[in-house]
Amino acid sequence: MLIDLHPQPADMARLVIEGMGRTPKQLPAWLLYDAEGSRLFEAICDQPEYGLTRTETALIQERAAEMAGALGAGVVVEFGAGSARKVSPLLSALHPAAYVALDISADHLAPACRGLQERHPELPVLGICCDYSHLDHLPDHPLLAGQRLLGFYPGSSLGNFDPAGARALLGQFRRLLGPDSRLLIGIDQPKAVERLEAAYNDRAGFSEAFALNLLTRLNRDLDGDFRAADFRYRAWWDGERSRIAMALVSRHDQEVRLAGRTWPFAAGEPLVTEYSYKYGPEDFLALAAAAGWRGADRWSDPAGDLCLHLLVQADSEQQPDGT
Ligand code: AVJ
Repeated sequence: MLIDLHPQPADMARLVIEGMGRTPKQLPAWLLYDAEGSRLFEAICDQPEYGLTRTETALIQERAAEMAGALGAGVVVEFGAGSARKVSPLLSALHPAAYVALDISADHLAPACRGLQERHPELPVLGICCDYSHLDHLPDHPLLAGQRLLGFYPGSSLGNFDPAGARALLGQFRRLLGPDSRLLIGIDQPKAVERLEAAYNDRAGFSEAFALNLLTRLNRDLDGDFRAADFRYRAWWDGERSRIAMALVSRHDQEVRLAGRTWPFAAGEPLVTEYSYKYGPEDFLALAAAAGWRGADRWSDPAGDLCLHLLVQADSEQQPDGT
């Protein structure tokens, strides 16, 4: 079962015009995930330099029983499910009432839900194609009615939002999930600059291809005339803001047509494709607290590269086991 709430072309045009008008030019990160972008992101996750996915998958596998115990009964709602593989050990340990996958890429969501359904034949599964950061409320669906909702947001995707946006998104999750909900969220940790920069500049070139695919997508969906050869991919660590910045940098002065307008680029001018903010536990929990969440537990890999936080509603007096 799949519900399609993907943003309409008019909404995309409006967002792109708004982003191209900023200084620096910056587009919403979800635009990176068309069918090809989702495929390229999967390839990034398999690169030796990008440890995040492997580390998080192993951590969930090893500690699934504890995580399930801390989450308790309900329906698991995954934001940005992608291939929906990380959640499997959790579902096996938890036996939730249902699993709901939200993702921006419809082409990716359908096979992801099918694959998950094969691994968990008894589990009711629902896919919702949407931009979860702008969803007003979860659809009215029998699988969700009257259920306690358990949010799952792995992959450190919160890092795509600037701190104010991240706080708003955490508040949005709190509203979408409702009272007595919980949120298990994976956050990539600040680490050595060389490792961070290597992760976003893999030698095989998938990070670069992933960013450049945005131009192909814009050309196709918003009538653009970007030429990939006129831009150079760059990713660098900005320690002051604790983020990786990823950008396509114009190789020379040029004008590009997009969404019915002409946009000038100066030589060296960046089009920011995404940021990837990294938060240590204290900074993350302060952000979560500002959005009404309280840290109830957390799990890290032995190297401390990644942290999975279990958040509960700050005003809830309930214990993790529901007593
Ligand atoms: C999906 C946002 C977590 O920031 O590490 C990886 C996206 N982009 N390589 C990240 C990404 C290029 C990824 N997130």
